[in-house]
Amino acid sequence: MIGDAKKLIIMTDIHITDEGEKIIGLDPLERFCLARDAALDRHSDAEAMILMGDLTHHGRVSQYERLAPALADIPMHVIKMIGNHDRREAFVEVFSDTPVTSDGHVQQIVDLSSHRIITLDTLDGPPYPQWHHAGMLGPQRLAWLKDALEGAGSRIPLVFAHHPPFDTGIIGMDYIKLKDGEDLLALLAQYPNTHLFCGHVHRTISGSLKGVAWSMLKSTCHHGPLELEKIDPTLSLDEPGSYGLALLTENGVVFHSEDVGIGSDVQSDLHSMAKH
Ligand SMILES: [Fe+2]
Repeated sequence: MIGDAKKLIIMTDIHITDEGEKIIGLDPLERFCLARDAALDRHSDAEAMILMGDLTHHGRVSQYERLAPALADIPMHVIKMIGNHDRREAFVEVFSDTPVTSDGHVQQIVDLSSHRIITLDTLDGPPYPQWHHAGMLGPQRLAWLKDALEGAGSRIPLVFAHHPPFDTGIIGMDYIKLKDGEDLLALLAQYPNTHLFCGHVHRTISGSLKGVAWSMLKSTCHHGPLELEKIDPTLSLDEPGSYGLALLTENGVVFHSEDVGIGSDVQSDLHSMAKH
């Protein structure tokens, strides 16, 4: 029964700035706390919270230090990932307890009873290409992933990557997708029932490619327009932030996205919901 399913809270593209610095007039820390509180208010029984990268806007130590207190009291395992706006050295300096592979990448495996969580580090570099936000895995990280998938045994693999390995039709973001995405998809296609989760595009989108089912979640802060022709990847909208909720069923996963900050006072109050 799905009501008994274990839960994962998923959030992405938090983009914490320095004190006083806003993005299109929004305070990313304030917006993250709104999503965090809405998620925990309803789902404090989740197994883990996964933050799918772009934790900060500029990858500065000062920005990770602003985020750290906001994560301190979360009553579950918080799995933190790297995105194109992050910088590995600053991230590890502040979150020194985060597992790092022998190759220095921020990737980890967390096993639950029926599912295996596999988080990838898709940041290209170092050296970090200036003005270029595309992602890259490369042979070392792909080999690590293959081992992680092989080791899943009977567990259902849930793979998390900041950059999508495919085009979404949002042309500005398609220019900065995962550069070796074809290699990632080809590998995942060998493991049926795997589900891939991504961020980066700041929109909630879903689909399947080469037999690989995927879900993409929008940001807790600013959002990408459904813009198929303009190539500027920095175009952003002030829409409600969102958190994702994955229900881990016996045979797979069901993924929900919940907006916060619109009528948020009533969201957690079931008695105030109106019938239609
Ligand atoms: Fe982002």
